[in-house]
Amino acid sequence: MVEQVLVEIDERRLLRRLDELAQRGTLPGGGIYRALYTPAWVAATELVTAWCKDAGLLTRRDQVGNVWGRMEGSRGGRAIVTGSHIDTVRGGGALDGGLGVVAGVEAVASLVARFGRPNRILECVAICEEEGSRFNTNFWGARAIADRLEPDEASRARDAEGVTLADAMRSVGLDPATAAQAVRRDIDTFVELHIEQGPILDESGGRLGVVRVIAGTAHLEVTVRGQADHAGAAAMERRRDALLGAAAMTLRVAELAREFGPPAVATVGTIAVEPAQVNVVPGLARFTVDARHSDNARRLELVAEIEKACKVIGRERELGVEVRTLRDRPPVSLNERTTDVLRRAARTAGIEPREMNSGAGHDTQILTAAAHTAMLFVPSIGGRSHRADEATAAEDVVLGARVLATSLHELAYT
Ligand code: GLV
Ligand code: MN
Ligand code: MN
Repeated sequence: MVEQVLVEIDERRLLRRLDELAQRGTLPGGGIYRALYTPAWVAATELVTAWCKDAGLLTRRDQVGNVWGRMEGSRGGRAIVTGSHIDTVRGGGALDGGLGVVAGVEAVASLVARFGRPNRILECVAICEEEGSRFNTNFWGARAIADRLEPDEASRARDAEGVTLADAMRSVGLDPATAAQAVRRDIDTFVELHIEQGPILDESGGRLGVVRVIAGTAHLEVTVRGQADHAGAAAMERRRDALLGAAAMTLRVAELAREFGPPAVATVGTIAVEPAQVNVVPGLARFTVDARHSDNARRLELVAEIEKACKVIGRERELGVEVRTLRDRPPVSLNERTTDVLRRAARTAGIEPREMNSGAGHDTQILTAAAHTAMLFVPSIGGRSHRADEATAAEDVVLGARVLATSLHELAYT
């Protein structure tokens, strides 16, 4: 077994850079929104580019806007890569994605400054998009790397204003016709540092976690069709109110996840009605369901039960119901040997890491198709994430970055 050394990083610079990144996309009412190909996103990618150049890394933006910093290895071969996503949800915090990006740059910069050229090619990456918060697609950056883009996806995907992903790419100087060329077939290992986003480490006093399985996710779109009617003249018993049907379905979706028990979760995160007027009974309601489980058979059962329940409620209320699968990603197991490198690095820092599954989705789950992958978690205070007050103690941020750097040292230098 390799003797590891705990790699030091520049703590003050790490924390300062996290703050600097958080200033790109600050919302007036609090929280951050750094959506793909927006001015805030451009500013954030420029910042990361400057950091990579400052570390003496060969720096480039690929065909979809992922920013890479690279140090060639004396032995060549396949690359050791670390990073995370640079986009955020609307009103999100500074750490979801941001931590893995900033710590990735810092870890690589520290290793290069201290140990010089690695044996293996060593790279950090700011992945352009993971959250699906602007366009009706997600994992755009990691899927491009892993050769998982769908033909014509950039011209089909749109944001809420109707702007296509392709036009948004052009607005930041990218050519959508070349998106598939962002593929990388030469990555050996991808390691991602991320906040846990749940309460387990925080509540158990754990400081580090290693991820075994990332839960699978299904995204459904449910369309409920009733009859629009006059809000004053149509008697209550005559109505076929699509929104009331959707509301009953929403409650049942959450109930079903509770009946399945942890780690099943199901969320109705968006809902829209038509014609959306104060004095008209909604004739149509459309909502999304996000359903997750780390056991694929249970996940499929949960999705089937949700679909069945929506149809039953629709029949009871004389409403038409269509359920469309927007995307379906099975759970993913991470690489045991790479995870062992993280375990050893955590122990080198004096911490026994907790073995965990992730309910949240991560770029790592996509990159598992293209590389050996592993993930390191640090605690989220109060389990808070996807909200403005997301937080991790500074000493845990620093610890996570050190353990990441230590792992990369074993992977790229020994
Ligand atoms: C991303 O944060 C997700 O889990 O959907
Ligand atoms: Mn997220
Ligand atoms: Mn994330």
